[in-house]
Amino acid sequence: MTFNLHHKAVTTSTNLDAREGAPGDVFTADEQTAGRGRLDHRWLSPPGKNLMMSAVFNVDGLTPEHVSSFPLMVGLAVRDALLGFMPPHAPRVLLKWPNDVLADGRKIAGILCERTGDRVIAGIGVNVNQTEFNEEIASCATSLALLRGNNDMRVEAVRDAVLAALNSRFETWLSGGFAAMHADYAAVDALRGHTITVRQTDDDAFPVHGLCDGVAPDGTLIVAGKSIFAGEAHILASGDINTYA
Ligand code: BTN
Repeated sequence: MTFNLHHKAVTTSTNLDAREGAPGDVFTADEQTAGRGRLDHRWLSPPGKNLMMSAVFNVDGLTPEHVSSFPLMVGLAVRDALLGFMPPHAPRVLLKWPNDVLADGRKIAGILCERTGDRVIAGIGVNVNQTEFNEEIASCATSLALLRGNNDMRVEAVRDAVLAALNSRFETWLSGGFAAMHADYAAVDALRGHTITVRQTDDDAFPVHGLCDGVAPDGTLIVAGKSIFAGEAHILASGDINTYA
């Protein structure tokens, strides 16, 4: 597919800009004043340092089950793209369901997919040149700059690599669904084999915890034998499980 780029110096959220877009439109910004993350989290990013991008895709005619795995496909594409920027002796780059991209166990990219009618917006934030993070996330975030030891990367180069990878993964996903890339996902799954807890609601009312058996071919996460459709997963340190017993 052909992508059409639209850039703003400052916007509220590129995902909001993308609501006005057509399939193939890509919205980027140097700064977001109301950047959004999954499960109503905020997405904070210092101006001019990182990739903030939202791309519009047509999912007309696909079943809800097919579309539900779209975010996992985007995670794989972003991971594919970031591999090309990793330093020699690269860290392991894994996916934490549904689609956080982790390098050395720390989050380097976040993805927020939103559906409007027959379109899906893939909102992607990649930490590129940021080297300092606020206290809340400092221990669990990283960036290409921190991994590579230089903070003068061109954000546009990362944007173009992500779009190329999205183009390729989207085509495969359209024709074969997530099942066509399930093995790829399983090979880089950060959660499988770990004891985890999954928050399914903002108030954490019904956490599910137990041994994670990975992601099924339909894109759901299997925890303690149950299929989870949406949520935020955390790997538990040994002992933490009692908190939820
Ligand atoms: C998450 O990890 O919670 C998802 C973060 C998604 C952030 C990106 S930045 C570009 C796009 N615009 C937004 O407001 N959010 C996404």
